[in-house]
Amino acid sequence: MNQKKWVLMATAQTPTNIAVIKYWGKRDETLILTITAAIGMRPWFYPLMISVSPLIQTTFCTTTTVAVSPLFHQDRMWLNGKEMSLSGIRYQNCLREIRSRANDVEDEKKGIKIEKKDWEKLHVHIASYNNFPTAAGLASSAAGFACLVFALAKLMNVKDDEGKLSTIARQGSGSACRSLFGGFVKWITGNKEDGSDSFSVQLADEKHWDDLVIIIAVVSSRQKETSSTTGMRESVETSMFIEHRAKDVVPQRIIQMEEAITRDFPSVARLTCADSNQFHAVCLDTCPPIFYMNDTSHRIISYVEKWNRSEGTPQVAYTFDAGPNAVLIARNRNIATQLLQRLLFYFPPPLDTDLNSYVLGDASILKDVGIQSVKDVEYLPQPPGISNNNASLKYKGDVNYFICTKPGRGPVLLSDESQALLNAETGLPK
Ligand code: ADE
Repeated sequence: MNQKKWVLMATAQTPTNIAVIKYWGKRDETLILTITAAIGMRPWFYPLMISVSPLIQTTFCTTTTVAVSPLFHQDRMWLNGKEMSLSGIRYQNCLREIRSRANDVEDEKKGIKIEKKDWEKLHVHIASYNNFPTAAGLASSAAGFACLVFALAKLMNVKDDEGKLSTIARQGSGSACRSLFGGFVKWITGNKEDGSDSFSVQLADEKHWDDLVIIIAVVSSRQKETSSTTGMRESVETSMFIEHRAKDVVPQRIIQMEEAITRDFPSVARLTCADSNQFHAVCLDTCPPIFYMNDTSHRIISYVEKWNRSEGTPQVAYTFDAGPNAVLIARNRNIATQLLQRLLFYFPPPLDTDLNSYVLGDASILKDVGIQSVKDVEYLPQPPGISNNNASLKYKGDVNYFICTKPGRGPVLLSDESQALLNAETGLPK
C-alpha cells in the first residue's frame, strides 16, 4: 500500500423490496435466522420468503458511498446526514464478514494499490441516504444493509456472488437478504446453526413480469412505534397464532407463490393479500398487540377487496409491511391507471398541494388518469359500485403521497463521482 493521501470510493444504489410472503420471527437474533426449537418449533419456521423489488429509479431507494483511506482513523458512518455509531453488532458483523473476503485492489489512474492483507488495518467511511421515510415500515434497513454490503464488496473487490453476499446482508437486517437481487427473490432459511445455508436466490428477474405496476400509498412517514426486531421477538414469545402460521400456512404458500410467479396474477394477488392480512393478524395476536396499520390502511384494503370482488377476479393486490403504508400491485398499466384514479378520488390532495409532489415516480400514469392539477381531482368520476350515500366519503389529507413504479432491479454501482455522498479528497460527507 503506498502511503500517499488518497481516498478510494464506491457508490451504490438499491431500491427497497416488499415482501409478498412475510418474514416475521427469528430463531437466532445475532445471525438473524428464523426461529428454532427455542419455542418448540423446527428450523423450517418460515422456510423461505418471497419478495418483489419495486423499481423506483430516482424515488425510493438507498444510496450509499463507502470510502477507504490511510487518512481515516476509525470506521465512521453518516445516515441521512447525521453521524451514527457503528458499534452495533449488525454493522460489526457485516464489516467483519466483508473485510475477511477482501482482495487486492489497484487503481492505476490514482496510483493506489491495496493488498489483501492491508484491509484489516484500513478504516472505512460510509454515508447513506434514504430518499424515502426511514424506519416507517418501508424496508429502509433492508435496502440500507443490502446497499452497504454491495458497495463494500465492490470497494474491496470481494469475488463472492449475490447469493453469498445475501448471507452477509442478512446479518444486518433479515430482509436485506432478499435485497441483493431485482425481480422476485426467495430467501431460503436453511437449517445450519451458523446460517451459511440461509441465503437468497432470484426466482425471476425484473423483466419477467414487467407489465406489473406498483403504487405505494405513503400513509405515514412517521417512525413506527414498535421496531420490527422488537415486534418479531414479542410475537414469537406470545402469539399462539404464529405457530399455526409457521407450521401449516407459510410452507404451502411459498410453493404456491413460486408457481404463481410464472405470471398467474389472480393467484399472486390472493396469496399476497392473504399473507399480509395474516401477518397483521399475528401482530394483533401478540401481547401487547402491535398495530401497524391504521384506519386509512383498512380503508384501502376494503376498496381493493370490493373492486376485486366486483370484477370477479383480482385486479390489484395489496400488502402492508410493519407500517401503515400500502403497497398495491396492479396487474397491468390500464388497471394501474384505474387504481390511481380511484385512490385520488378517495384520498384527494389538500388544495394547496402540487400534484407532482402528491404523485411521484412514473408521471405517465398520472397523465393517463387525465388530470393536470389538484383542482381536476375534484371532478374525477365516482368509482363504479359505490352507492351515492357513500360518494361523499373522501379522506382528504389522509395519504401523504403516492409513488407509481414497477418491479425493479437489484443494487447497481454508480460510476459518476458526482453522485457520491462523500468528498473525494477528504472522505467526509459532502
Ligand atoms: N437503516 C435504515 N436505513 C439505513 C441505511 N440507509 N443504511 C444502513 N442502515 C439503515
